[in-house]
Amino acid sequence: MLRPTYPITTPRLALRPFTPADLDALYKIQSRPDVMEHLYEQPRTADEARETLQRYMAVTALEKEGDALRLAVTVDGQVIGHVMLEWLSEANRGGEIGFVLHPDHHGRGYATEAGREMLRLGFDGLGLHRIIGRLDAANTASGRVLAKLGMRKEAHFVKNEWVKGRWADEAVYAMLADEWSAR
Ligand SMILES: CC(C)(COP(=O)(O)OP(=O)(O)OC[C@H]1O[C@@H](n2cnc3c(N)ncnc32)[C@H](O)[C@@H]1OP(=O)(O)O)[C@@H](O)C(=O)NCCC(=O)NCCS
Repeated sequence: MLRPTYPITTPRLALRPFTPADLDALYKIQSRPDVMEHLYEQPRTADEARETLQRYMAVTALEKEGDALRLAVTVDGQVIGHVMLEWLSEANRGGEIGFVLHPDHHGRGYATEAGREMLRLGFDGLGLHRIIGRLDAANTASGRVLAKLGMRKEAHFVKNEWVKGRWADEAVYAMLADEWSAR
């Protein structure tokens, strides 16, 4: 069980659950083809963004295996993206992290700064043993973020997923709890 205290602050960011007032910001991010290019989903319509926001708002704690916590990433009160921590397995104490930012805010280290807090929640808060990051292997920026977080590239699966009309390679990065402690 993980029930964080919000907001979670870093030197430049604050992470907190989404609220109904974040709909426009979320839509502006998830409706963009460039943002969704390496994700499974197509760019979202306004209605889809509204449904997505409801799903995100419904989870503010990790209570059981399968729960996925998505937090808004804010700079000076403005929502610039979101980060995720999913509890993949109770038996294996496994989790997964992810991040999505508006392109206006790319390249400043924000995903790395926010991603580190999701690792902290997973390892120190939930007591996970292993956390992974999975991505389209063509997503260079995302792979770079996972590497900067100190995660190890463990796999590159060739053309194993049919995504948006093409066979995509998938890369898997991972970190163990003792590696997190020793970082
Ligand atoms: C992946 C993503 C979150 C990275 O956010 P970010 O805040 O720009 O990340 P950071 O600034 O912490 O680091 C990005 C790194 O990738 C590098 N990078 C960015 N684009 C790159 C590219 N096209 N080719 C090579 N490197 C690239 C940057 O130089 C930086 O590395 P550096 O610090 O060594 O210079 C952002 O690109 C994004 O939201 N993409 C769309 C959604 C997505 O694909 N999410 C990941 C799903 S697995």
